[in-house]
Amino acid sequence: MGISQNEQQSISALVGQYTQLPGALLPLLHAIQSDLGYVPDSAVPIIAKGLNLSRAEVHGVISFYHDFKTTPVGRHTVQVCRAEACQSMGSRQLEAHAKQALGIDYGETTADGAVTLEPVYCLGNCACSPSVRIDDAIYARVDTDLFDDLMSGLLTEEGASK
Ligand code: FES
Repeated sequence: MGISQNEQQSISALVGQYTQLPGALLPLLHAIQSDLGYVPDSAVPIIAKGLNLSRAEVHGVISFYHDFKTTPVGRHTVQVCRAEACQSMGSRQLEAHAKQALGIDYGETTADGAVTLEPVYCLGNCACSPSVRIDDAIYARVDTDLFDDLMSGLLTEEGASK
């Protein structure tokens, strides 16, 4: 995916700041993600050149750490808990429903850029599982109907703020 000139300039500026730092790759990747929201594929050659690494090394680190996103994130992040307590209360069915309802897999963003779907491993809300987090809010005992209501609430909110 291509990046804008502004994004390219931000990446180059960040690479410049980290070149002299020992073990710079991880902090640099975090800085890029914090600045742009993701680490674009086209950043890899700029990072590799700046830190004197191979592109394969940079790619390897990005794909090893699941925290790094390689595509732009949506305006909202929806996380479905996959940990044990939630699984025992039906989160597998819920996640299958979430993927189907949104038309995306984990790690993907809806075509309109509204929602990124992610798995999460315990939201500290096990007593009221299955749990879902939408942006900063945690929702308890989410079944497929409640999930659909939450999603239409999100979209209505989006429409109202336009
Ligand atoms: S296991 Fe899902 S909130 Fe703890």
